[in-house]
Amino acid sequence: MTDIEVRTASADDFEAMRDLFAAAMMFDASPDELSRQIFEPERALVAVDGDQIVGTTKALTRDLSLPGAVVPAAHVTGVGVRATHRRRGILSQLMTRQLREVPEPIAVLWASEPGIYGRFGYGAAAWAVNFEADLHRVGPPAVRTRPGELGEISVDDALMTLPALLRAVQDQRAGVSGRSELRWQQHLQDKPDDRNGRTARHILVHRDETGTVDGYALWRGKMNWGPAGPVNEVLVEELVAPEFSAYKVLWQHLLTMDLSAKLGYGYGAVDEPIMQLVTTPTALDRRVSESLWLRVTDVPGALRQRRYAVPIDLVLEVTDDLIESNNGRFQLTGDDALVSCERTDSPADLSLSVGELGAAYLGGRKLAEFATTGRVTEHTPGAINRATAAFTWPLAPVSLEVF
Ligand SMILES: CC(C)(COP(=O)(O)OP(=O)(O)OC[C@H]1O[C@@H](n2cnc3c(N)ncnc32)[C@H](O)[C@@H]1OP(=O)(O)O)[C@@H](O)C(=O)NCCC(=O)NCCS
Repeated sequence: MTDIEVRTASADDFEAMRDLFAAAMMFDASPDELSRQIFEPERALVAVDGDQIVGTTKALTRDLSLPGAVVPAAHVTGVGVRATHRRRGILSQLMTRQLREVPEPIAVLWASEPGIYGRFGYGAAAWAVNFEADLHRVGPPAVRTRPGELGEISVDDALMTLPALLRAVQDQRAGVSGRSELRWQQHLQDKPDDRNGRTARHILVHRDETGTVDGYALWRGKMNWGPAGPVNEVLVEELVAPEFSAYKVLWQHLLTMDLSAKLGYGYGAVDEPIMQLVTTPTALDRRVSESLWLRVTDVPGALRQRRYAVPIDLVLEVTDDLIESNNGRFQLTGDDALVSCERTDSPADLSLSVGELGAAYLGGRKLAEFATTGRVTEHTPGAINRATAAFTWPLAPVSLEVF
């Protein structure tokens, strides 16, 4: 490792970093001016071997919804190591430095492989439910819509209308990442080269009685003909509707698309209300996988910035192999409105590592789940039950996009 140096990136590294990451993930990078504008070199690290970049990682400045709050969280992405330089500890060097340097108390990422990030103290904090719905069997109940209730809008109109709805959903569920104006522009780009045989993107909106847009879906179609006729596919990229009335109409519309046999959606929550909307939930054909991985980089800072479902007053003993200042005992006192978290010498009620803390942090996984395997240890009887009740949040977290 003596020949490998890790340094902060500069604006000039943009192309080399983009090409390295694309090669690592096995796709061809295409020029994209918005990506360049969004690039934050001061928050990116590169590993260099001589004058060649051989490893990259980036931390994006974005906010994230938590139980009871929306806060800045380092969104880690662009992690790649040149194939010729794998398994020499470059990723470990990049991750360690990045986690020690990010100013936010938490970092989040989507992992290409679940085996990679646990060793760096990340915990899988949210699940993504992938639906492959059989539209001939699923049976959404009929919904009568009013004229003008559903429509399609342009990208320009979407840029004005949709951000407020995403922000409203952040107040309902943890795990939802915010988007700046530039990021919205990038999200709504629709380059023909990226469509892979699917149609252009439809921006479907629902309007309430006053004509105000209160929900939207981004979707594409794909034409398919089977031996017995049309078996088109409906591919839903995003559906955001803080009002249930809008949510119901949008899903009903998509689940009953003519000529279609299948609907795919990859960003469902484990308690996604769509399961209550259909007569045959098994025909939604659900597959669950890890979505957002979360790393606590500052234990008291992180514990202070979320809220707790029921009052909690416990001492947590935390261990962290990478960030020394996270080790120790912390008195956590709080509820759904006020929180304090301070270092203490008092004896611990329960002990755990930052990995379990990260997994439970968004309220979707239970500390009790980790107690069954000895990863959380109870020292005071009842502490696990009380901590589990306080950390868990009523609705499951969900991450609505791979970043
Ligand atoms: C995954 C990748 C970043 C690993 O980089 P690397 O420099 O080879 O990793 P390191 O040498 O620092 O390995 C650190 C540890 O992680 C393990 N590891 C590395 N890649 C892994 C993988 N894909 N799955 C599981 N474990 C992995 C190593 O075995 C090593 O374990 P050890 O410490 O017990 O020996 C690199 O192989 C790569 O770029 N792959 C393709 C792109 C990709 O998957 N990027 C991640 C996007 S989320």
